[in-house]
Amino acid sequence: MNVVMQHINKSFGPVQVLHDVQLSVNSGEILAMVGENGAGKSTLMKILTGIYSKDSGEILIDDQAVEFHTIRDSEAKGIFIVNQELNVFKDMTVLENLFLNKEHSRFGMIDENSQRSQAITVFQRLGISLDLDTPVGMFSVGQQQLLEIAKSLLLEAKLIIMDEPTSALSGKEIEMLFDVIRRLKEAGTAIIYISHRMKEIFDLCDRIIILRDGRFILSSSIAEMNFDSVIKNMVGYDLGELFPDKPELPPGPEILRVEGLSDATRFHDVSFSVHQGEILGFAGLMGSGRTDVMNVLFGVEPKTAGQVFIDNELVNITSPRKAKQAGMAYVTENRKDEGLFLDFTISNNILMNNLRRLSHRGVVNQDKTTQFADELMTQVNAKYQGLSQLIEELSGGNQQKVVLAKWLGTNPKVLVLDEPTRGIDVNSKKQIYELIFTLAKLGMAIVVVSSELIELLGICDHIVVMREGAVMTHLENQQLTDEEVMKHMMGGVI
Ligand SMILES: Nc1ncnc2c1ncn2[C@@H]1O[C@H](COP(=O)(O)OP(=O)(O)OP(=O)(O)O)[C@@H](O)[C@H]1O
Ligand SMILES: [Mg+2]
Repeated sequence: MNVVMQHINKSFGPVQVLHDVQLSVNSGEILAMVGENGAGKSTLMKILTGIYSKDSGEILIDDQAVEFHTIRDSEAKGIFIVNQELNVFKDMTVLENLFLNKEHSRFGMIDENSQRSQAITVFQRLGISLDLDTPVGMFSVGQQQLLEIAKSLLLEAKLIIMDEPTSALSGKEIEMLFDVIRRLKEAGTAIIYISHRMKEIFDLCDRIIILRDGRFILSSSIAEMNFDSVIKNMVGYDLGELFPDKPELPPGPEILRVEGLSDATRFHDVSFSVHQGEILGFAGLMGSGRTDVMNVLFGVEPKTAGQVFIDNELVNITSPRKAKQAGMAYVTENRKDEGLFLDFTISNNILMNNLRRLSHRGVVNQDKTTQFADELMTQVNAKYQGLSQLIEELSGGNQQKVVLAKWLGTNPKVLVLDEPTRGIDVNSKKQIYELIFTLAKLGMAIVVVSSELIELLGICDHIVVMREGAVMTHLENQQLTDEEVMKHMMGGVI
């Protein structure tokens, strides 16, 4: 199968987000699509799957023009999209999820045996094994994602689109996903793969297309490109070093001290401290307990033991509100569930987190709010049309920047960032690193949890390594290599 999109234009209101964009993908090909946050990647794919309508342009399948008005229309032609926000029902079993609305029936009854055998065949093709009778919620995000892919295979997918599929996956899950993608390719499925992770793109893909500001820039075999040329075409200029020079700061007084913190099940006896102007990293595999520690620290989950000191004073943080009052801010890894109200405007999301500063006797000062929100959005380099835009209308990466903006507004003493650059393009990453350095210089104590070791090595002063709910070691980040950190993450063997 060959799928072509050409001369695609799309506007939202007065703003044109796609200008004369083109794309072509063939059976057995893995096509990477890259571009900065807001470049138009997801929008183009939503047009291809009939979720959004195009203003003009054509979609051709094997030289035949097609029109998709709903997602069902594209599915009928074998085109499927696996979104980052998964479409699974967690209380239902694997089997029920697989065949939802597509039940096999015999004499008016659901034919479970036929469903089971088809499910098993598809799992074998993908090389995965998930118990069919277990509720989906019991599986990891990665496994749930594989289930989505299995679902598309049940319907004979010829083209599968994956929009940032790995951003919430662990290293092992990514390997599993890549295995599955390679099998699909061998079986002749076409894949469109959207990611901000350059390494994945070079490891996995055959060809690449680059979008910039809603325009098609180039399409090329991956072999003819390298890291620098991809980034240059994405950003429009040479980016230089990804990590800006780290400022040399003499450490200030201790701001945050955590002693022997434990929760009921997930971690125990965690101790660390952060000084003014210091950036402390948390490394570890997914599930090692890093996020659980931050959740307890911020009062989202209860602790069972341990003490927390801010400015040398014992604080009793039993809720996020108390954490905020004590001078903490927490940019969570999950912007959808915890970070933002998607159906609220940008300015209301920022306002809600900064009510005290922006209102007087219960009345919100609108001018002040607008000015405040504008400044913060500029500070995080977000791309948006206006403060009254709804969060759900922003591109993935720009939503992430609003989470950061709303917390910067609180001017915290301690800033905890969990996966701060997830879903963020390379250029914005660099800007966020620069911002973190500026905040450190201004005297904040900063904690960064990240699954990207290179990021921790590039920005942190110290790195705490966690494994299976315990702190393995504290490392000073002086000529530290990723192998060294990795060794502690994995428990001595790599
Ligand atoms: N429903 C919508 N209403 C209004 N504007 C929208 C809507 N969906 C997307 N946009 C705008 O279209 C532009 C392209 O967004 P899109 O989500 O396609 O970017 P992207 O390349 O996928 O970015 P990211 O890497 O951040 O996910 C952005 O400016 C975004 O704000
Ligand atoms: Mg997107």
